Amino acid sequence: MAYQDKLIANDILAYLCKHENKSLLRFITCGSVDDGKSTLIGRLLYDSKLLYEDQMAEIERDSKKSGTQGDNIDLALLVDGLAAEREQGITIDVAYRYFSTKKRKFIVADTPGHEQYTRNMATGASTADLAIILIDACKGVLEQTKRHSYIASLLGLKHIVVAINKMDLVDFSQDKFGEIVDTFSAFSKDMGFANIQYIPMSALNGENITAKSEEIPWYDGPSLLAHLETIDISSTNTREPFRFPVQWVNRPDANFRGYCGTIASGHIKPGTEIIAMPSGKRSIVKEIVTMDGPLEIAVQHQSVTLTLEDEIDISRGDIICGIDGPAEQSDQFQAHILWMSEKKLYPGRTYLLKTTNAVVPVSITALKHKVNINDFSKAAAKALCHNEIGLCNLSLGRPIAFDPYDNNKTTGSFILIDRQSNETIGMGVLQFSLRRASNIVWQDLEIGKTERAIQKHQNPAVLWFTGLSGSGKSTIANLLEQKLHDMGRHTYILDGDNLRHGLNKDLGFTNADRVENIRRVAETAKLMSDAGLIVLVSFISPFRAERNMARRLMDDGEFIEIYVNTPLEVAEKRDVKGLYARARSGEIKNFTGIDSEYQAPQTPEIEVNTTTLPAINAAKKITEYLNANGFLETHI
Ligand code: ADX
Repeated sequence: MAYQDKLIANDILAYLCKHENKSLLRFITCGSVDDGKSTLIGRLLYDSKLLYEDQMAEIERDSKKSGTQGDNIDLALLVDGLAAEREQGITIDVAYRYFSTKKRKFIVADTPGHEQYTRNMATGASTADLAIILIDACKGVLEQTKRHSYIASLLGLKHIVVAINKMDLVDFSQDKFGEIVDTFSAFSKDMGFANIQYIPMSALNGENITAKSEEIPWYDGPSLLAHLETIDISSTNTREPFRFPVQWVNRPDANFRGYCGTIASGHIKPGTEIIAMPSGKRSIVKEIVTMDGPLEIAVQHQSVTLTLEDEIDISRGDIICGIDGPAEQSDQFQAHILWMSEKKLYPGRTYLLKTTNAVVPVSITALKHKVNINDFSKAAAKALCHNEIGLCNLSLGRPIAFDPYDNNKTTGSFILIDRQSNETIGMGVLQFSLRRASNIVWQDLEIGKTERAIQKHQNPAVLWFTGLSGSGKSTIANLLEQKLHDMGRHTYILDGDNLRHGLNKDLGFTNADRVENIRRVAETAKLMSDAGLIVLVSFISPFRAERNMARRLMDDGEFIEIYVNTPLEVAEKRDVKGLYARARSGEIKNFTGIDSEYQAPQTPEIEVNTTTLPAINAAKKITEYLNANGFLETHI
């Protein structure tokens, strides 16, 4: 390595010991695409001689070949080069680089990517002690600067460096620097940062990076490296209660049961009493098992296997806690969410929520407000768009163990996953549990679904008709109901137009309203099937996510999706209600098929093509399906 410590040659053990005892600072850099983030990291590594000799030689060679800095070294190549390397392999959202100086060890979360930048930044920030927020002196504070500062604050970062870069392009102007400092300190005053260090610099020319710049005599603060080496972060490393999210249960035979995971906070010793959450069961740690033998103590970040004195039921995703302050448990939360998908977040839609180790279905029951990033005001919203931040109420499919994010970053944070694509689409921090809602218990009633169904001599089912407006859903549902009725079956039709006269009369046709429309009708259909009825649901229900949600809500096999397939041209030509003509003339907005999306079912149980099949035959086809699949068998 180019960085030399004489101890390496003279006393390697003393060197290693000294190195081991240095404190560690984890930081991230935030900035927009062109404001010099790569150059800054490159310069930091280069000037402090933290690069390997071969890396230096390579970058000097590459700079001549493909650099953007003439005969000078293009430091951005160092970072970007590695980024390109990464792209060839597996995609990693955040790469962590390690380096050290005589005074301290550092881990910098290198958050590559352009359009996905906010997402990567947030991932890096959740484990960092400090954020460097880069500002191009020529451009000043941008919306992106505010967004990243807000995310840093939301993720509990206390130490900020505002790196005002490219000072050479504004003639090292003290006024320009002062202006940016004033703007930044004004908008960040309520963000809860313990310490903000403003540093004027030129990453390209190495001014104020590893040594004080002579070009900026009016600045009397430290260089960036000096600041990073000396800043006191001890207050952020306070002693936390023991938290051990269980990653998997190791049970090779009946004699051994070990809980494997990484200690999220605190420490543990054999003989210590623990409590497993959410079950609340207690036991005592018997042994801390590792590959290298048993341990007397294990601390934060260590990956270990714990065995317990008693056989208590603990599964993946549970948290083993110290008894002095166990984690909470709940299935209802208030949380801040940073939305990271191009597809909007809609209240009422279900997603998967992943905490340290648990994955649970979740729906956003209320979007209380979103944050306007320009002035941090709260604005009412019906949906969250890409990169927006909102305060939400969440309802989970089952209770999880957690801590409020302010108390524990690991057990208080989560990501949201799209159920269909499996993509990460959001991240969030848990604020507190909504006790009000979790105090409600389900009332078990003496007469159940089975009793009600037997009395009606039938099997409950939900026949879900989906298709464009005017496709023929209601007509076919109506004919089918008559047939079923004649056969002595107890039925009910839930029709879009009809429900919009009552239960759903507060809803319009925005995507957000349609999501809520279908949520309500799915819940209603569930109650009706619970009452033992055969329910016919006739709604456009344009989105797959909500139709799948409805399917999951019903008992297995009870949901039958019927795609009433009528091409747009045909439905538009029929135009029974005259709505298509009004939509085409612009009088009706958000009309399905015209300026609002319809996602056709991919694997419906039944498809009827109304261009070739008259409605009466479609109803017959459905009856045949129901017969063939045992839905119309009678209970005696
Ligand atoms: S859904 O999309 O939310 O499922 P729903 O089935 O309740 O729609 O209501 C659709 C009916 O509302 C249509 O059959 C049509 O009569 C009427 N309607 C009025 N405006 C619109 C619109 N913008 N888009 C679709 N349907 C509309």
